[in-house]
Amino acid sequence: MTDSKFSKRIKGTIRVPGDKSISHRALLLGAMAEGCTEIEGLLMAEDVQSSIHLCRSLGVEVTQSEKITWVKSKGYKNFQTVTAPIDVGNSGTTMRLGWGMLAGQAKDYTLIGDESLNNRPMARVLEPLSSMGIGWKSLAKQGCAPITLKGVDTLRPLFYRMPIPSAQVKSALILAALQAEGLSVIEEPIASRNHTEEMLPLFGGCLKVAHKQIRIEGPQSLKGTTLNIPGDFSSAAFFIVASLILPGSELILRQIGLNPTRTGLLTVIKKMGGTYQIVDEEVGMGTLKVRHTRLTGTIIKGELIPTLIDEVPIIALMATQAHGETIIADASELKVKETNRIDATVTMLQRLGANIISTEDGMVVKGPTPLHGGVVSSCGDHRIGMMLAVAQLLTSESIEIEEKEAINISYPDFFNDLDNVTEVLT
Ligand code: S3P
Repeated sequence: MTDSKFSKRIKGTIRVPGDKSISHRALLLGAMAEGCTEIEGLLMAEDVQSSIHLCRSLGVEVTQSEKITWVKSKGYKNFQTVTAPIDVGNSGTTMRLGWGMLAGQAKDYTLIGDESLNNRPMARVLEPLSSMGIGWKSLAKQGCAPITLKGVDTLRPLFYRMPIPSAQVKSALILAALQAEGLSVIEEPIASRNHTEEMLPLFGGCLKVAHKQIRIEGPQSLKGTTLNIPGDFSSAAFFIVASLILPGSELILRQIGLNPTRTGLLTVIKKMGGTYQIVDEEVGMGTLKVRHTRLTGTIIKGELIPTLIDEVPIIALMATQAHGETIIADASELKVKETNRIDATVTMLQRLGANIISTEDGMVVKGPTPLHGGVVSSCGDHRIGMMLAVAQLLTSESIEIEEKEAINISYPDFFNDLDNVTEVLT
């Protein structure tokens, strides 16, 4: 297929909604803090609703206007007792961080999720929390929710070396360490996103990060604060890739979070020969300009993986349009996301004609390959759904995406926003 066969391109300016990871943390730290936290730009999507639901279940007041969310709490020592299971839907971040937040309560709490979340591993959080004194019991499948956590008033401090890079596990342990009696040390050989560490001092919390270790002296009390949430880089990724692979495209993405623990996609774009420009950079936020570029295959592995873990499906699509072979390795964590993202990405892209195979810990893609129409499914996973919607721009044949509504988990306005920057060439 030659470039001229593409019938669409991306043009214009976009501001994607608030960062999902930061939104969860703003709510949960706001709930743990005493006083009022005022949040501008909280992501309004189903996943974040799960954190709001958890906060409200614990007796924390959450109110919202169009732009601002207020969290009013008496602090983590005053969470109310909840006997019924608290349903946190599809949100792994709410559930995993939730375990850490509830660990210091001498009460029982049961968290339950949807079918996908009830099959995701929770022992990775609950085992280190057990060494701090908590008890826990799976009510159905071992190691998975629904789980009842038995918190304790006096948590022991923790010394823990993270066996896998996971920001959810690390953050849960930080939330528990804040409530423990003494010095906890969390060692992170491979870095994962650091939003919790960055946000904690804004709530008056104290932690030291040095030499791949996080040191927290507990117990600490937190105070409400004011936060402004940048656009979600992981949501922006779909637009960035669409602009790179569609000839004639040029897009400006405003106020995107550019925390380096999240922007591995930019490193990959450079490795593939793509170009982009960052302008007007503020602290942690910036404007990104992207235009179509010819891309070549590359190898993506090792410490880069956690910095782009949520972008692998869209990177795979990008690789189908790059010249040569792209290898993605060290990414087994994708098997325990909202769905098995290695299987889902490979199966769905194969259905559209891509030259892609799965490997034990990733995938291999050869390109450039023209994509064709077909029936595909998000597999109930928002990021697979959005990747397939971008794939639709590459062919004039029709792609039917089943279970599209999964996209509401992180980006309810995705199709509108994509339409607004898509130009149909006549
Ligand atoms: C997240 C961390 C990542 C990511 C998830 C959100 C977070 O998961 O995949 O979408 O907000 O901490 P892991 O920490 O399990 O890798």
